[in-house]
Amino acid sequence: MADPTGGELPPSLPDAAAEHARLADEIRGHDRRYYQDDAPTVSDAAYDELRRRLEALEAQFPELKTPDSPTETVGAAPSDAFAKVRHAVPMLSLANAFSDEDVAEFIARVRRFLDLKPAQELPVSAEPKIDGLSASLRYENGRFVRGATRGDGTVGEDVTPNLRTIADVPDRLTGADVPDVIEVRGEVYMSHADFRALNERQTEAGKPVFANPRNAAAGSLRQLDPKITAERPLRFFAYAWGEASAVPADTQKGMVDKLRSWGFATNELMRVFATAEELIAHYHAIEERRASLGYDIDGVVYKVDRLDLQRRLGFVSRSPRWAIAHKFPAEQATTVLEGIEIQVGRTGALTPVAKLRPVTVGGVVVSNATLHNEDEIARKDVRVGDTVVVQRAGDVIPQVVRVTDPDREGRGPAFAFPRECPVCGSHVAREEGEVVWRCTGGLICRAQAVERLRHFVSRNAMDIEGLGEKQIEAFYEAGEVREPADIFTLKARDEQPGRLTRLKNREGWGETSAANLFAAIEEARSREVNRVLYGLGIRHVGEINAKRLLRHFATIDALRETARAATPPDPAVKGDKGDDAWREMIDIDGVGAVVAQAVVDFFQEPKNDPPLDALLKELTPSPMPAAASDTPVAGLTVVFTGTLERMTRDEAKAMAERLGAKVAGSVSKKTDLVVAGPGAGSKLAKARELGIETLTEDEWLARVGEGG
Ligand code: IVH
Repeated sequence: MADPTGGELPPSLPDAAAEHARLADEIRGHDRRYYQDDAPTVSDAAYDELRRRLEALEAQFPELKTPDSPTETVGAAPSDAFAKVRHAVPMLSLANAFSDEDVAEFIARVRRFLDLKPAQELPVSAEPKIDGLSASLRYENGRFVRGATRGDGTVGEDVTPNLRTIADVPDRLTGADVPDVIEVRGEVYMSHADFRALNERQTEAGKPVFANPRNAAAGSLRQLDPKITAERPLRFFAYAWGEASAVPADTQKGMVDKLRSWGFATNELMRVFATAEELIAHYHAIEERRASLGYDIDGVVYKVDRLDLQRRLGFVSRSPRWAIAHKFPAEQATTVLEGIEIQVGRTGALTPVAKLRPVTVGGVVVSNATLHNEDEIARKDVRVGDTVVVQRAGDVIPQVVRVTDPDREGRGPAFAFPRECPVCGSHVAREEGEVVWRCTGGLICRAQAVERLRHFVSRNAMDIEGLGEKQIEAFYEAGEVREPADIFTLKARDEQPGRLTRLKNREGWGETSAANLFAAIEEARSREVNRVLYGLGIRHVGEINAKRLLRHFATIDALRETARAATPPDPAVKGDKGDDAWREMIDIDGVGAVVAQAVVDFFQEPKNDPPLDALLKELTPSPMPAAASDTPVAGLTVVFTGTLERMTRDEAKAMAERLGAKVAGSVSKKTDLVVAGPGAGSKLAKARELGIETLTEDEWLARVGEGG
């Protein structure tokens, strides 16, 4: 099955699960940056694509749809800086439509769900989708008592004093039919004019400017000091409600009219229509006025108008079945591509960035845009000097869409993607089926250094207590730890005579903590060799592959010698199977060409030699622990699921492996044992279905003789 974004879905559950976990993580990160930090780093379009991919994976493999999946949650958990407010009625999100067909399909779906006859009308409202942040305002006996942000949809942040500073938020509701209790919901936003003026004031005051009105509104509302919010010209459109002791209208439009009669600002472009065609026509009418509205909108929201039908339709996980957001395509502009710069990310990925003659796209000046990867540059045939179309969609990272005149005479040469890392000069490698080139200079590349060092000292690698992210960063910045070996020479350098400030006298350190750190480092010199290899952070060499490789090679030196000698098969030569050294590697159980290639790339990069030699000189690794063969679980494949109460997942895994068991992530016919804690869901169900033995955590501990 292909997903709606056009990508192929992984064929097997483990692959899908791995991709799902990666995507979910990425999406949660974006959610946090968007909702909590007000500082998104991807375009809405790119974000939507990640979400669609996740949804497609879950449609294919429903067992991946856990309650904490981003498809089941909205936004991000509220920040600790504010008191929390539990929304009496959750604040949900909207499903998206990107085309006229999606809209027609929405109407058809609703009609099917309600079993409407062709002659029965289905009035649907259409109104602008305001690009701000939603808020919920609670009124009791007509008085504003509390206001909150959406937060994660269930719990938001109490920003009552800040909301009180907004002129569009009435302190008292007036007029007829005001319910005793009502939570009015809507969007806090900033107008274009106010946004520009605010940024001018920020500039004059030497303060950072906001990237767009949405970020400015979010940053202003989530101020700890309401006096600052009061200086920021925020506005509020009311368009929905949460808890209400009475709902004095039968339709969405009727309620919005009530909201207006009680003193709220509501959007004047809201209309009710009977067909998908009319909705789409109104969408285009709103789109045409988009630039002159004076505030940012990013689409049109359609809502089934009759409230009784809304009730019948209900919700699907995170969004109402009775509403959908029809998004606008991204805004575009034309400018000249002045250069292409390659940036190296923390994982070594090389990303081409377009350097543009500055141009305003949808109200924001754009001078950089992503070109994604080598294939994209080639596909669009983008060349320096070309005039290009740039697009952003409420964005932070704009994209280059296409070249306006690919047949122009005197164009420059096609872009030659570098084969060397622009940061450290190591060669770059690209895996089969992958689009990104990565720097292989894992140990020496500045762009990757801190991330690599963090991995090196992490729990499952060298496990050096007292060397966390902060300390690593500080040592790196001070020039004291640039590569793994430097960690082991820290102490000697610290004790050198003439040293200006010894570690124990530095901020954040003391006699004990410094001594503890040095002791932890000493202890790590003899870590098991498989942990050292894992700590090197070679692509695809995780804990398991490190063990597989070393069960065969025993030492890093032996592995390195073979990897250096290995010649992978030449794809141009039919039937080529690579040389002996290559085959020795891929013949190891569980090690395939992808892993072998990554290992070869790493050890054949000469720039990795000095730091690796320096590191190995500092270490006396202990041999890899032999797999146990005479334990009650030796040779069994075990799956842990649910919450473990007496040990962490990592501990459970380590224990099982120490006892000679294999630990798998998902249940299949090959599973021998499932250890299930509270909250175990689909994996436990699957185990029962397959007749696999299941144990509680206590039973497991008793079985392996570590209970009690
Ligand atoms: S209705 C239960 N109407 O879009 C449905 N939402 O992507 C409640 N938004 O969280 C939402 N303009 O922050 C609705 N006219 C509008 C809107 C609107 C902007 C936001 C809102 C919501 C998000 C969903």
